Amino acid sequence: MLRTHTCGQLREDLDGTETTLCGWVHRRRDHGGLIFIDLRDRYGFTQIVFDPKNKDAFAIGELVRPEWVLKVTGPVQKRKDDAVRSENPTGGVEVLVKNIEVLNESKTPPFEIDQEKDVGEEIRLEYRYLDMRRIRMQKNMALRSKVFQIIRKYFAEQDCIEVDTPCLIKGTPEGAREYIVPSRVYPGNFFVLPQSPQQLKQLCMVGGIDKYFQLCRCFRDEDLRGDRQPEFVQLDFEMSFCEQQDVMNVIEGSLISILKECGEKPLKTGKVERYTWQHVMDNYGSDKPDLRYDLPIVDIGDISKECGFNVFEDAIANKGIVRAICVPGGAELSRGEIDRWTELAKEQKAKGLAYILFKEEGPHSPLLKFFADGYLEKLQKALGAKTGDAIFFGADKFSVVCASLGRIRQEAAQRFDLIDTSVHSMLWVTDFPLCEETDDGGVTFSHHPFTHPHLDQWEKRNEDPFGITAICYDLVLDGYELGSGSIRIHDPKLQGEVFDLLGISKKDQEERFGHILRAFEYGAPPHGGFAYGVDRVVMILAGEPNIREVIAFPKDQKAKDLMLGAPSPMPEEQIEELGISIMKD
Ligand code: AMO
Ligand code: AMP
Repeated sequence: MLRTHTCGQLREDLDGTETTLCGWVHRRRDHGGLIFIDLRDRYGFTQIVFDPKNKDAFAIGELVRPEWVLKVTGPVQKRKDDAVRSENPTGGVEVLVKNIEVLNESKTPPFEIDQEKDVGEEIRLEYRYLDMRRIRMQKNMALRSKVFQIIRKYFAEQDCIEVDTPCLIKGTPEGAREYIVPSRVYPGNFFVLPQSPQQLKQLCMVGGIDKYFQLCRCFRDEDLRGDRQPEFVQLDFEMSFCEQQDVMNVIEGSLISILKECGEKPLKTGKVERYTWQHVMDNYGSDKPDLRYDLPIVDIGDISKECGFNVFEDAIANKGIVRAICVPGGAELSRGEIDRWTELAKEQKAKGLAYILFKEEGPHSPLLKFFADGYLEKLQKALGAKTGDAIFFGADKFSVVCASLGRIRQEAAQRFDLIDTSVHSMLWVTDFPLCEETDDGGVTFSHHPFTHPHLDQWEKRNEDPFGITAICYDLVLDGYELGSGSIRIHDPKLQGEVFDLLGISKKDQEERFGHILRAFEYGAPPHGGFAYGVDRVVMILAGEPNIREVIAFPKDQKAKDLMLGAPSPMPEEQIEELGISIMKD
């Protein structure tokens, strides 16, 4: 090694010891003839001092600039009491430079490697290797590595086999667009990068692996948000001969160990809560509610049938619902804020956002003139609204009311600072609908087409496909969907029926899923599993606002790698060799 110690290692007990440190010049200060440099590496900072009496070293000390790479040798010396900096673990000592070697020079970096300063994300991503030198990234990378290690250890202890499944595969639907890779050997044919190893892990169960896990890379070409990347890492798990509760126990155990070893906050209720999808949609308007705050949504259908306001009455008459949420303190919202909230509701396809503000001088709302006698009092009672509060309404079909009031619930929690950030809220959401309606009125899967329906409902699948629930479960942490899983179909006949229900033709079933249908004919065991997004777990533990902060080399919000400049055009010969021609414009 070029060094005897790291920059985070020296303490007072090493006073007088000869040491050699290597690191980057973090800050330089010239003081009363002496030069002080904070030398930095992954482990910390150590102050090195240049005395003008040591002319050669001092001359170099005068020359060096931020981010130059140095190797310095000299004795550790205890600092005088008034020079001790107790906030830094090495703040009681310094190294008096006897010899210095410049291992490398550095151009002036495009931003200071200084935690305090805010730097634009674009430049951080373009120079990620410099950004990585900053404490924030160093901490996040170390935390991520620790989480990976805890996961590997935990699942090994559960007697799982880590199977590394391939990335060049055939499409496996998870609801996103796929990244495709052209084949040179078979022009006009393509591999697909996995959205998840879903089918492969199920085939491992057919293969008798019994318990599988993998820290796997998944690829999805979808609209990016703060908690999404085109490629990300899942903890992927599958087991045989199990019921839902068995999978939940294993997964819950892994997250509890991660929280215990890496987290600082307790669970709000001391345990992982568990609700059905119907319950969380009804009460919180979301399948991933943040329960660090309350703000329940209340059904007011019963009291609104003859309320006088036609929007509510019509919704009920058209088999829709009317619900409302009471926002404590909401009466102080300005006209502009209410307009903005109305826009948020409209983004969720609501036609408007009716409201009542309970101001000191009395209730205020454009709707009061329509209300039948006594309706306002009934509302106030049903929602527990007091002077100073506000009520917001949704009247439409179930999905629209849930989405719009769920969004208002989130916004209200932010605006009125209702989120208890000293705790985590973790919950299971179970029994999702098996299918969803597509925009054009068709039937598609909610999770993926391998999810086992509740068989007692299977008979009614043709009359009421959206009324069938599945044996599936999501895990939610602080309002983020951490992961999902299900008991899978292992019976080829049932799998075929589910494909039929989803409107997948027999020909497509054979082309896309023939391999798995065939595998199920050879003694597939009952099985189930789960996958959670590791990037999301690390993001929440690190308290970061988006997953790019916990990924070494992420894509930006437009799915570009700004450092590598990818994606990029390819040489024409290479494109031709693949049998591909690029459309101009
Ligand atoms: P699902 O599609 O719900 O389930 O994905 C599981 C978890 O993966 C994470 N995740 C993402 N993280 C970052 N960026 C993305 N683009 C992204 N997409 C998903 C989320 C999500 O909850 N095969 C099934 C699991 C199973 O049934 O076993 C699956 O992939 O945290
Ligand atoms: P309108 O009758 O369209 O003038 O709307 C009166 C009030 O009701 C406005 O504040 C609208 O934002 C609101 N509103 C209209 N339609 C709905 C709806 N479907 N759900 C909730 N509020 C609505």
